[in-house]
Amino acid sequence: MDTIERIRTSIAQVRDPDVAATLSELNAIHDIQLRDGVVKLYLELIPPLQWVARHIDLSCREAIAASVPGVDVHIFVREREIPRTTPSTVLPGVKNLIAIASGKGGVGKSTIAVNLAVAMAQAGATVGLLDADIYGPSAPTLLGLQGMPLHARKDERGHIIGVPHERYGIRVASMGFVLQREQAAILRGPLLAGYFTTLVEQIDWGELDFLIFDLPPGTGDIQLTLAQKVPLTGAVLITTPQELSLADVRRSATMFRRVNVPVLGIVENMSYFVCPTCAHRIPVFGEGGGEALAEEVGAPLLERLPLDPILQRASDEGIPVVEHPTGEHFRALFHTLARALAREIRRRHYHHQSPPMEITL
Ligand SMILES: Nc1ncnc2c1ncn2[C@@H]1O[C@H](COP(=O)(O)OP(=O)(O)OP(=O)(O)O)[C@@H](O)[C@H]1O
Ligand SMILES: [Mg+2]
Repeated sequence: MDTIERIRTSIAQVRDPDVAATLSELNAIHDIQLRDGVVKLYLELIPPLQWVARHIDLSCREAIAASVPGVDVHIFVREREIPRTTPSTVLPGVKNLIAIASGKGGVGKSTIAVNLAVAMAQAGATVGLLDADIYGPSAPTLLGLQGMPLHARKDERGHIIGVPHERYGIRVASMGFVLQREQAAILRGPLLAGYFTTLVEQIDWGELDFLIFDLPPGTGDIQLTLAQKVPLTGAVLITTPQELSLADVRRSATMFRRVNVPVLGIVENMSYFVCPTCAHRIPVFGEGGGEALAEEVGAPLLERLPLDPILQRASDEGIPVVEHPTGEHFRALFHTLARALAREIRRRHYHHQSPPMEITL
């Protein structure tokens, strides 16, 4: 067997940790070149790659080192093109559109949307956050952007478009930058949905890996408009362990299912309180609700977040907890959440496109 074939055979068996398939089964090996003791390996993998690229890179290096020792290895990874499941001309530059939703108010949607977005940016993704809560916009407060209107500029066709704010590595637009609270309070139904559509379509988001939509509570006009007009990759549902919250989230799951938006996972917030003296986890609002709901909805429980006053403090200071000097623990939790969400998206891309299974003998 020549050297290139030996390399190919060794990396063919490397596993993609998210989708439980080998690089060979994934048709991921695009090209292998060998010149003067330098191996160039070109891979094509299912996005988003921010959380797995390094793992796969290391696995390939190990496999090559074991089969052909002493060569210098350069690995180039490109993202596979994933066609949208719902054809749409809305937001063509955005790869993944994620709604953060819950039937119930006050369960932590906005806190989680903001910190998830910033955690994804910390991992190297390009991220936008659209605060779609007209009556109670949170992004301006949570990111310390109160009283800062959106800048506008004219595009090539002379249309006025909004320029999102940049903060903590993410692009942000909020109804709170556009409408005064008193103005919002008198808007109803279709008019509200109109404002929302304008905000989605007339913001210059540029190219994004992720656009996170922080939704208002419930299953009303905004949620429906979003689900119908925007080609959502999926929704992440936020719940607390109480039965009342679970019931509301169930309703939310039903709504998304009805409009063919997949539920990518559940996040259980305020799951437990870590006792500051004995470090025991106390399940303040009961236990097992998130797991039961995840099973019922047929989506994974992506993360359980503790009840912790530091979240409130960070919010009051206008700093996302994942950027806060005392937010070490939450930084780790939100990174695990981002990782779990990316894994679920990759799995769905894999099963959706079901690439031809080429068997290399
Ligand atoms: N895990 C937590 N521990 C402590 N406080 C939290 C936690 N999660 C959220 N909070 C606090 O609970 C309040 C509600 O959170 P948040 O605004 O994120 O909820 P929401 O679901 O977006 O609410 P709404 O339905 O009004 O949009 C905030 O004051 C927030 O700081
Ligand atoms: Mg909110």
